[in-house]
Amino acid sequence: MGRTPTTIMAASNNPRPFAMPKLGLGTWGMGEDASRRQAEVGAVREALSLGYRLIDTAEMYGEGGAESVVGTALAGALRAGALRRDDLVVVSKVYPHNATRRGTPAACMRSLERLGLERIDLYLLHWRGSVPLAETVGALQDLQSRGQIGRWGVSNFDVDDMEELWALKGGKDCAANQVYYSLGERGPAHSLLPWLQARGVPLMAYSPIDQGAIARDAQLAARAAELGMSAAQLALAWLAAQPGVVPIPKAVRSEHLRDNLSALDRVLDESTRAMLAARYPVPARKPPLAMI
Ligand SMILES: NC(=O)c1ccc[n+]([C@@H]2O[C@H](COP(=O)([O-])OP(=O)(O)OC[C@H]3O[C@@H](n4cnc5c(N)ncnc54)[C@H](OP(=O)(O)O)[C@@H]3O)[C@@H](O)[C@H]2O)c1
Repeated sequence: MGRTPTTIMAASNNPRPFAMPKLGLGTWGMGEDASRRQAEVGAVREALSLGYRLIDTAEMYGEGGAESVVGTALAGALRAGALRRDDLVVVSKVYPHNATRRGTPAACMRSLERLGLERIDLYLLHWRGSVPLAETVGALQDLQSRGQIGRWGVSNFDVDDMEELWALKGGKDCAANQVYYSLGERGPAHSLLPWLQARGVPLMAYSPIDQGAIARDAQLAARAAELGMSAAQLALAWLAAQPGVVPIPKAVRSEHLRDNLSALDRVLDESTRAMLAARYPVPARKPPLAMI
């Protein structure tokens, strides 16, 4: 389908621009229950055929189960010629306790095996743990120089973490920060998002429909219906319109997959944006970064 627009997203000193689709598919919750596996593989296959070109997963999700679901779906789509590998951005994440010099490449190899790929396009430190950041960055750089990952980034990093990363050798090569950002969680808009935007680092917005809660908000749904869309679409269109923000909604149901991708076709007018800004204000003081 190829209608997913891409934006050039790169850390400022990146000689090779990294094109990231404007919306991706989340996979948290997949790969946890064998009885749901077929439906989940089918959902990822359907997402690919609808035009999703960014898939977000992690070694944590289903303890490898989600990566395995994604791997099975990708293998089928690639075999069928429905998809070119180079058009796809696969994101996975290393557990903080694995993010050592030796543990990071070992975790990455296990993820590659489950995904059935030779390269993870973007590999993130899932959240900060006790391993020194410089050690993790060194391990990620090694993986990148070996071509086993395309780019690396972080997740759940607040401004102070990003400042620390920026001061490290090679830290400015960070290609993304994935955080909780949605209508229901406006904290990052206070200072983290402007910090990232100023440096050309994409903010991947996780739980962008508040794990389904936004879609169930009757008032928002009524307002969205007046505009001919669902509440989830309104939330995703609002996120995707912000420079450098890439929402990654998770969906298994076909109607959700379609609803979410087509949010990219929706343009919000001034009065809708004003309504959302009033209803979901940016906090006046910087809150701690929320994590799910
Ligand atoms: N880096 C991190 O620490 C971190 C943390 C949390 C999440 N993530 C990533 O971000 C992804 C998304 O976050 P999330 O899974 O927490 O929550 P989410 O995407 O905000 O919400 C997913 C839930 O909403 C439902 N849904 C999806 N589209 C819908 C629609 N159009 N209308 C109504 N309901 C809809 C889904 O149902 P169905 O599945 O039944 O369709 C699912 O129950 C995760 O899957 C994961 O990849 C990363």
